[in-house]
Order: sequence, then C-alpha cells, then structure tokens
Amino acid sequence: MSSNSVDVVIGAGSGIGRALVDRWHDAAARPVLAVARLPSALACFEALESVQTRECDYSDGALTALTDTLLEEGTDVARLVICNGVLQGDGFRPERALAQIDVSAMRQVFEVNAFLPMRLLAALSPILKRSTAPRVAVLSARVGSIGDNRLGGWYSYRGSKAALNMMLQCAALELRRLNPAAKLLAYHPGTVDTPLSKPFQTNVDAEKLLAPDTAAAALDKVLSEVESDGMLSYLDWRGDSIPW
Ligand SMILES: NC(=O)c1ccc[n+]([C@@H]2O[C@H](COP(=O)([O-])OP(=O)(O)OC[C@H]3O[C@@H](n4cnc5c(N)ncnc54)[C@H](OP(=O)(O)O)[C@@H]3O)[C@@H](O)[C@H]2O)c1
Repeated sequence: MSSNSVDVVIGAGSGIGRALVDRWHDAAARPVLAVARLPSALACFEALESVQTRECDYSDGALTALTDTLLEEGTDVARLVICNGVLQGDGFRPERALAQIDVSAMRQVFEVNAFLPMRLLAALSPILKRSTAPRVAVLSARVGSIGDNRLGGWYSYRGSKAALNMMLQCAALELRRLNPAAKLLAYHPGTVDTPLSKPFQTNVDAEKLLAPDTAAAALDKVLSEVESDGMLSYLDWRGDSIPW
C-alpha cells in the first residue's frame, strides 16, 4: 500500500457518507478525507484523528483546488465515494405526473445528481489516473434503471440518475485506458433512513429500511469485493447487478 493512500468521501454530510466516514475511521485502514459544503456537516468528524476534513462549495475553482492539493500531497486514492444527490428541494417535490414537470426544479436535480458527480470525476481524473488501484462508487439509485421502471413518476430524479449511469459508463471506458486497475461503480445503497428518504418512508417495510451504518457496511463490502475489470458495474447493496 502506498504511504499516501487515502479513502475519500465526497458529500460527507449525507446520511450515508457520514456513516461511511465513521466506519472507515473505525477500521483504521488508512486516513480518510471527508469533503462537504458546510462546516456544520464536517464538525462531527473533528474529534476523529485519522479524518481530514475539507469544505468545498463544488465550484469549478474549488474542485481544481481540491485536485491540486491531492496532487501536491502525492495522494493515492484507494477508495472514492461520491454521495451527493437530491430528490426534492425548496419549493419542489418529485413529480407524480407530466403536468408537474418544472424545468427549473429539474435543472437543480440534474445539477446535483448528474452534473456534479461528473464534474468531480473530471476534476479528479489526474488523481485517479496515477492512483494504484482506485475503487470509485458514485451513489446512483435503482430508480435510475430504465429496465426496472414499472411505476413511473419521479421524472427528474429517475432521469438524472439514468443520465448519471450513462455518463459513468463513458467514464469507465475512458478510465480503463488511463488506469486499467481502476474500478467504477454506479451504486444503489438500498432504501436508507436519511433526510433524503425521510418524507417517502411511509410505504417502506421497516425491515427494508436500512440504517445508515448498515448501508455503509454494505457499500464497504461491495467496494472491496468487486473486481477491477475496466467496466462500469451497476450494483445494489447486496452486490447484485441492476438492469440498465
Ligand atoms: N437514502 C436513500 O434511500 C437512497 C436511495 C437510493 C439512492 N440514494 C443516493 O445516495 C446518495 C446519498 O443519499 P443520502 O440519503 O445519504 O442523502 P442526504 O443525507 O439527504 O444527503 C444529501 C447529499 O447531497 C448533497 N447535496 C444536497 N444538495 C446539494 C447541492 N445543492 N449541491 C451539492 N451537493 C448537494 C449533500 O452534500 P454535502 O455533504 O456536501 O452537504 C449530501 O452529500 C444520493 O446520491 C442519493 O440519491 C439514497
């Protein structure tokens, strides 16, 4: 293992991201870098010795600065997880019908769910290129599957995750030329008890609702067991493939 080997969680203020940082800190395999927008989201990691925190507003300048720091430090990314995602926001909720489509809301959802992860991968590609065997999971969702869509609705969320999946496949094909040992995952974490899912939990069976630390453990396991085959894998928290 490289002496500068680091695990990175972006969107570390999310329910799943926070649990993953805690888990990786406890496992003490290597230092963890936790990246989030707000100091308040990072405050919970302050007492954790092996966790370094970094505020990031996800502007182009901030992403370049993040990459520059990692390059200067000679960072070797072992695992990278991108957690950012939104389902609803100020003044909008997931659409239940075509008539509810609002392009401004749709843009916000695509911005966070599809564009931001790709901007992050673009900015970090020099790091991924020179890291020994980076394993990268971008949190997608099963509802981004076209083949699995039997309920409809949630146009922006489903569409943004499907767009994310397509762009991740492009990135996986590019990444295998840059670094054949890299592995990219579009990952469905299960239905997890976080602020994102909270308003939509009424119809979810209690046993199907995962606690964030259970979701983090599952992600950790899938990420460590998946093979670096130069392809994008679209996997759920059990490690099972999801149809595109
Ligand atoms: N919870 C579930 O049941 C479930 C199911 C399927 C897929 N997922 C996916 O898993 C991921 C994490 O979900 P979660 O449930 O843990 O979410 P959460 O606790 O609600 O956290 C939301 C995340 O989105 C980021 N975010 C929100 N608004 C943003 C904005 N305007 N710009 C940039 N980033 C923004 C936050 O970034 P900061 O940390 O920087 O604040 C945070 O990382 C998401 O991609 C979600 O779609 C979740």
